Amino acid sequence: MKHQRIIVSHYGGPDELRVVEEECPEPKDGEVRVRVLAAGVSLPDLMMREGIHPETPPLPFTPGWDLIGVVDRLGDGISGLEPGQIVAALPISGAYAEFVCLPQRELVPVPPGLDSAEAVSLVLNYVTAYQMLHRSAKVRSGQRVLIHGAAGGVGSALLQLGRLAGLEMYGTCSSRGASTVSDLGGIPIDYQHQDFVKEIYRLTGEGVDVVFESIGGTHIWRSRKALRPGGTVVAYGLTSSLREGRLASGRSGSRHRFRAIAIFGLYIAGG
Ligand SMILES: NC(=O)c1ccc[n+]([C@@H]2O[C@H](COP(=O)([O-])OP(=O)(O)OC[C@H]3O[C@@H](n4cnc5c(N)ncnc54)[C@H](OP(=O)(O)O)[C@@H]3O)[C@@H](O)[C@H]2O)c1
Repeated sequence: MKHQRIIVSHYGGPDELRVVEEECPEPKDGEVRVRVLAAGVSLPDLMMREGIHPETPPLPFTPGWDLIGVVDRLGDGISGLEPGQIVAALPISGAYAEFVCLPQRELVPVPPGLDSAEAVSLVLNYVTAYQMLHRSAKVRSGQRVLIHGAAGGVGSALLQLGRLAGLEMYGTCSSRGASTVSDLGGIPIDYQHQDFVKEIYRLTGEGVDVVFESIGGTHIWRSRKALRPGGTVVAYGLTSSLREGRLASGRSGSRHRFRAIAIFGLYIAGG
């Protein structure tokens, strides 16, 4: 049986995405073949395509961080899963395909009756947001937080989960994202027309307890200035390296597996 998948064989813009048709993969021992129903499209997918995400695989590769799919075929040694069952996975790459084989331990059963496209949005973005709120920052009700890119995928997840946790929330966004941020319980700050550090001090008087920092580079230092004494910056992204889905530098991409990690390490050590 044939199937189709998308491959990236050169790092670069969206025109580097190609569809290939090939034999359907067969599950090895301990693996499950999953028919993909929905795959997420996120900024990390674009960064891998450009070769600038720390987790970028070697070429050629199939993008796709997260998926919802239906169990299609079981490899030897699988128990506790049945063909037809709906599952979620976070393979980091490979989800832009009709079929993908994954180890059973990477599959999480999905309750029946959920829309696949809605469910897949929970896998990468909400897990990231939850971990940062409750495992990295360990937020407490009543704390003040600043969320950068608050109208985006992870930003809007942080707002929704932050509201449930009882946080006072401020969110940077462009003017088109302002209503999304306020509808989700945050106070929008227009990063294109306002200095977010000054605005945070004007609004709070003393800064915030936590900044969720998705922009990267020197922006991390600016975020640190918005903290009140004892506050924390949780840095997790490199949005500034892309502009409209392409490398902001305009150069063609190459694989920088450790560069971004080194930048984070430098800031964490420095801060
Ligand atoms: N560490 C992890 O586990 C993990 C997981 C997921 C994502 N990430 C990282 O998180 C970041 C965000 O990902 P995402 O999927 O949420 O992206 P997204 O949906 O594209 O959202 C990014 C948002 O950032 C806004 N933005 C751009 N420049 C900004 C600036 N200078 N100040 C404030 N906001 C700005 C954009 O708004 P406008 O378009 O309106 O300007 C957009 O709403 C990425 O760097 C990604 O790699 C990390």
